[in-house]
Amino acid sequence: MNTNRKAWLTGLFLWSLALVVGCQAPAEEEAAMEVPRSGLYQASELALTMRDMAKDMETLRAKADEGTLTVEEVEALMQTHQTMATDAPTKPSDIKPSFAGYSEAYLDQLEELRASIERQDSREERLTAFNAAIGTCVACHQEHCPGPISRIQKIKVQP
Ligand code: HEC
Repeated sequence: MNTNRKAWLTGLFLWSLALVVGCQAPAEEEAAMEVPRSGLYQASELALTMRDMAKDMETLRAKADEGTLTVEEVEALMQTHQTMATDAPTKPSDIKPSFAGYSEAYLDQLEELRASIERQDSREERLTAFNAAIGTCVACHQEHCPGPISRIQKIKVQP
């Protein structure tokens, strides 16, 4: 096997690994998969943003439940998560035309959540807005990336 072909095959292998690891890995494997971040394969911009999004929402879940989420916290999410709309994905050909709509729906739901806190809506109404935002994550994932769905569903709070 010549070196070019070997390099090509290695590239192909790492690329398929990135896809499998990012979108199909069940939640239990996700901890393990963060280890190769520096070496084994290069996570895409979108994958890195998504990891932050998942961590942010998991961190804020308890506050959403207590009803202590602040306008500033939601604005910080809106600020950092919005790059999702333009971040480069692992495999552009897997991105469907519906992606832009789901991305907008997610950011709109964060705005709705922000407004709900600002209006000092009841805890239940604020939870509905929080869960609706998580619902848009799930909707996009059903079409684009089913692997993390069970992890994302766990972020929802029972009213
Ligand atoms: C508009 C569609 C869309 C929305 C909305 C969305 N995702 Fe994603 N998500 C994707 C796509 C596409 C990927 C695959 C990214 C890649 O491999 O480049 C992904 C990847 C992920 C991953 C795996 C990242 C990795 O390590 O490879 C996690 C976890 C994740 N998303 C969580 C979330 C959470 C939590 C939300 C909501 C707070 C969310 N996503 C909202 C489309 C979306």
